[in-house]
Amino acid sequence: MNILLLGNGGREHAIAWKIADSQRLTKLWIAPGNAGTEAFGENIAGLAIEDPVAVLRAATDLAIDLVIIGPEKPLSTGVADRLREEGFLVFGANAGPAEIETSKAFANDLMNKYGIDTADSKLFDSYEEAKAYVRELDGPCVVKANGLAAGKGVTVCDSPAEALQAIDESMQLRHFGTAGDRIVIEERMYGWETSAHAFTDGITVRHMPFSCDHKPVFDQNIGPNTGGMGVYSPSPQLEPKIQEIIETQITETLVKALGAEDRLYQGVIYPGIMLTDSGPRVVEVNARFGDPETEVLLPRLKTSLLDIAVGVATSTLKDVEIEWSNQSTVGVMLTSEGYPGHYEVGHRIYGLEDIDSNIQVFVSGANRDTNGHMVTNGGRVLCVTGSANSLEDARALVYENIERITFEGVHFRKDIGRIVAKPD
Ligand code: AMP
Ligand code: GLY
Repeated sequence: MNILLLGNGGREHAIAWKIADSQRLTKLWIAPGNAGTEAFGENIAGLAIEDPVAVLRAATDLAIDLVIIGPEKPLSTGVADRLREEGFLVFGANAGPAEIETSKAFANDLMNKYGIDTADSKLFDSYEEAKAYVRELDGPCVVKANGLAAGKGVTVCDSPAEALQAIDESMQLRHFGTAGDRIVIEERMYGWETSAHAFTDGITVRHMPFSCDHKPVFDQNIGPNTGGMGVYSPSPQLEPKIQEIIETQITETLVKALGAEDRLYQGVIYPGIMLTDSGPRVVEVNARFGDPETEVLLPRLKTSLLDIAVGVATSTLKDVEIEWSNQSTVGVMLTSEGYPGHYEVGHRIYGLEDIDSNIQVFVSGANRDTNGHMVTNGGRVLCVTGSANSLEDARALVYENIERITFEGVHFRKDIGRIVAKPD
């Protein structure tokens, strides 16, 4: 099969790496791809992956059999819809069902309607009304840009003063562009977080193992939220009965609810869950694989990802048996100094040739200079991933290898996979 994969992050490097082991693969194209994906196929630099017409043209010209959509943006612009209309197989949700991620207001309304437990929330168009509401709440809350803000539109606030500042940044200073013109103000929840990924063709749901991302930039969850600084899977702190509640009462209910609303969901659905004292509650729902979650989930996947993607795209997921390894996997992000704020790019990366052969280094934001050397090209640069029989052993393996990699301004968290007694 000829496959076109859209995206350019560590997630897409991991998908390309995993797709490449399939017997059914003839050729893989990655648009735009990065310095990691090029080892598994041909990168296409110039394709406007958020433009449905451009993607359709490329899929036609390249005689593509299946398109895999990595990030949320092309989902939101209807790339999957357009391709499906023309008869292409697509692994990725249409724009309607993808609103579960792209509109926080839609997601909250749907969850309330179908009895899925999530934070109480209110949507605001008016700056003055939002500020008045926060003053009235007079306690902790969470301020979220309603639209897509590349993982940065959320501010978890301890006090009304912080919330007022977050409202200013979103609605007045417009740090998130139009995505922040409407905001959602939510009840703040407390507890462990876990990512509950599943494959679905809209009828059958196949759950993936649970994983845990670490969003704040510094150790002990200090500092601003990022796209994700590191991750581990499985989540040993999750009791089996809680896992079952999440799988049935949250993920499967979401898929059924979207179907009932005429928004058949085909792709990966990934609710982010908070394990609170009153049980699991939804923080947000994503319409795609998480990044960096993908970088630890796919190394644990024993089944061909291409077989699963075809099962999703042809509504035959019920016929695909999916197997996972029992190993623990840890992924640690190496980032550029300053991220998630301003950072420099173009710094040469050293030491990749010294990495153990059982370690995967997934490229998030790096490309090649004119001499072919890998150089930094993003806030999140590399995800170093390793597996072992225990979380502690996987951690040790990954951190030992990270010491061999360096670039100017490299930063990483030292506590990925170290499970503390109770989160703050
Ligand atoms: P999101 O982009 O919605 O996943 O939010 C990013 C991060 O903000 C989450 O992973 C949580 O750590 C935090 N967060 C979002 N919503 C809430 C909430 N209602 N209560 C507590 N923390 C939250
Ligand atoms: N791991 C966070 C995200 O992909 O949204």
